[in-house]
Amino acid sequence: MFSHATIEKNASLLLVLSLLVVSVGGIVEIAPLFYLQNTIEKVEGMRPYTPLELVGRNIYIREGCYTCHSQMIRPFRAEVERYGHYSLAAESMYDHPFQWGSKRTGPDLARVGDRYSDDWHVEHLTDPRSVVPESIMPPYGFLSETDLRTDDIADHLIANARVGVPYSEDMIAAAATDLRAQVNPDSEFTDALAERYPKVRIRDFDGNPRRLTEMDALVAYLQMLGTLVDFSAYQADQNYR
Ligand code: HEC
Repeated sequence: MFSHATIEKNASLLLVLSLLVVSVGGIVEIAPLFYLQNTIEKVEGMRPYTPLELVGRNIYIREGCYTCHSQMIRPFRAEVERYGHYSLAAESMYDHPFQWGSKRTGPDLARVGDRYSDDWHVEHLTDPRSVVPESIMPPYGFLSETDLRTDDIADHLIANARVGVPYSEDMIAAAATDLRAQVNPDSEFTDALAERYPKVRIRDFDGNPRRLTEMDALVAYLQMLGTLVDFSAYQADQNYR
């Protein structure tokens, strides 16, 4: 139709035709993702974050942990052997924004939950080099000294509900008591919390039961990462192995 020389000498034509080529390429790449089984499947075990985990996640974002840590295990043998089962799309379905990250200065954290004790996390976050001498991670000890802001917790749930996270009216109404119950195993509200959020970890996380700090929230978040889906029961195709 057009010769190459004509296209290259006519800027507008070149632009229009480039856009056309790029859009076709984009559609071919993106459209199948909406139909492929493993990108849209629902997975047993996923639930929204508890209020405490959610504020912990907000602190993770505020402190820029994602600039050094990814949360996406790729389906390669080396990654799976180091970090565990590769990440499923459904595992970040309640993440707004997602925390896949694009850089790994430190290790992937998608399945760091339950890998270390709470004490280890507190010590590591307070002074990374005290537990990993060669670490270049910055210290975050101030989190243990900072009281957790709790008055706006219901708003955080409401904001997430607006973008599709299934927080019920009930969960939103109980957000403040749920938040406090998670760090206090003696609370009368722990049963209700566990019913709303299966597999929730209920304990004091920062080693100081007298205070509810940002450290409590961040460690609660780290300790649940990657623990919701039971992979012994999950039948994914394991062909890559
Ligand atoms: C400047 C980059 C950098 C930033 C920012 C950073 N980290 Fe790290 N992180 C590292 C490095 C490097 C390591 C590996 C050495 C170590 O364990 O300290 C690491 C290790 C970790 C580990 C241990 C993971 C494992 O599997 O052993 C956790 C948990 C962690 N970081 C959490 C955090 C959190 C939470 C934040 C934000 C509050 C954060 N990091 C911010 C660089 C960073």
